[in-house]
Amino acid sequence: MADRIQVLIVDDIAETRDHLTKLLGFEPDIAVVGTAASGAEAIEQATRLLPDIILMDINMPDMDGIAATERLSARVPSAAVVMMSVQGEADYLRRSMLAGAREFLVKPFSSDELTASIRQVYSREKEKASRVVVAPAGTRPETHEDGQVVAVFSPKGGVGRTTVAVNLAVAAAAELGKKVTLVDGSFQFGDVAVLLNLNPKDKSMAELVPELEAGGDPESVDTFCMTHSSGIQVLLAPPSPEMAELITPSGVKRVLEVLRARNEVVVVDCAAWFNDTILGILDLADAVLTVLTLEITSIKNIRLFLEVAEQLGYSHKIRLVLNRADTTLGIRVADVEHSIGRKVDHTIVSDGRAVVYALNRGVPFVLSNRESQVSQDVFRLAGSIVGNKSTREEEGRKPPQKGKSLFAWR
Ligand SMILES: Nc1ncnc2c1ncn2[C@@H]1O[C@H](COP(=O)(O)OP(=O)(O)OP(=O)(O)O)[C@@H](O)[C@H]1O
Ligand SMILES: [Mg+2]
Repeated sequence: MADRIQVLIVDDIAETRDHLTKLLGFEPDIAVVGTAASGAEAIEQATRLLPDIILMDINMPDMDGIAATERLSARVPSAAVVMMSVQGEADYLRRSMLAGAREFLVKPFSSDELTASIRQVYSREKEKASRVVVAPAGTRPETHEDGQVVAVFSPKGGVGRTTVAVNLAVAAAAELGKKVTLVDGSFQFGDVAVLLNLNPKDKSMAELVPELEAGGDPESVDTFCMTHSSGIQVLLAPPSPEMAELITPSGVKRVLEVLRARNEVVVVDCAAWFNDTILGILDLADAVLTVLTLEITSIKNIRLFLEVAEQLGYSHKIRLVLNRADTTLGIRVADVEHSIGRKVDHTIVSDGRAVVYALNRGVPFVLSNRESQVSQDVFRLAGSIVGNKSTREEEGRKPPQKGKSLFAWR
């Protein structure tokens, strides 16, 4: 029993509890250790039984599944919640993830879907727990021979993720001499090819994933990556949005593992939303550069993301990158830091002229406009995130500044 996945079932309908118990009873590696009919009972049972997984119904009369999940993530953080709902709307999913749920199942689901989710969440949590060893923010264990995976993420679009990812990757190669692969993780509407003026010819993540999933040789990544004149390798997004369907979360994970083993640095330009694929990338990443701008919507989303990130155990690897920093926007960095309760780690100046000119020419500004402040900011970021250990320490975090006027912009 002890080495089986211990599951607590929470649903206000007795038949559903019985049905799920029976379904899981057939699985040799899963044990149902308890059932609960309400949110309050779930908290009581989970505190006592310490299950690995809690299958939680989202709609319950007294305390709904989202409120129960929020309380559980504080009281029993070792238990991972899999939320069950009859509605599959994005808002439900988002609220569940924000509350700390690890997975979302839409009823009716098959027994295969159920058990696959339980096993997947369980192994992800185990892997995460084993990685909590990691060194202080921005550094990696020196014994790790593989390259460093740097995810560039933001919970809001249009804040400069692609600009940062592309210029960071090129700076790491051109300035720091690193072997770098840049991955366009915006599978539907990736822009990396445009910023680098690359013309994909049957070379993208959509072609590579099926190849690797079919047991293809790790060497095959070379076939599907393009070489940019700066020396970096680039794995592009598919040329048309519908091809993104060919890209599975497990396939992306496999691709990144292969790339990590073959590079010193792997930079991933992520999409601006949460799904299994993005969570898989963030899980695997050594550093998550979280890009924000001095806009109230960006700051609000960052605050929500940081809460989720803490629950998912990512806090130690998050580096906040303030992009398009401009003192004339009516929001000060100190105010932002106070609002989100965390220091901004890196700042990149706003320079529309240099950035848009580079974009339109398809030549990264760190190559064509090295002297500009925006390039210098990216070089500093590169030194801090992927430079040698001493550079990273030198560029490390400075003591937090205290915000003077709080919420002046509200
Ligand atoms: N530091 C900067 N100064 C001025 N303009 C910038 C800066 N960084 C990015 N931009 C501009 O902001 C816009 C959005 O940038 P970018 O495409 O990199 O963002 P993104 O987060 O990847 O967006 P998407 O959600 O569309 O993927 C672009 O027009 C870009 O040129
Ligand atoms: Mg982008």
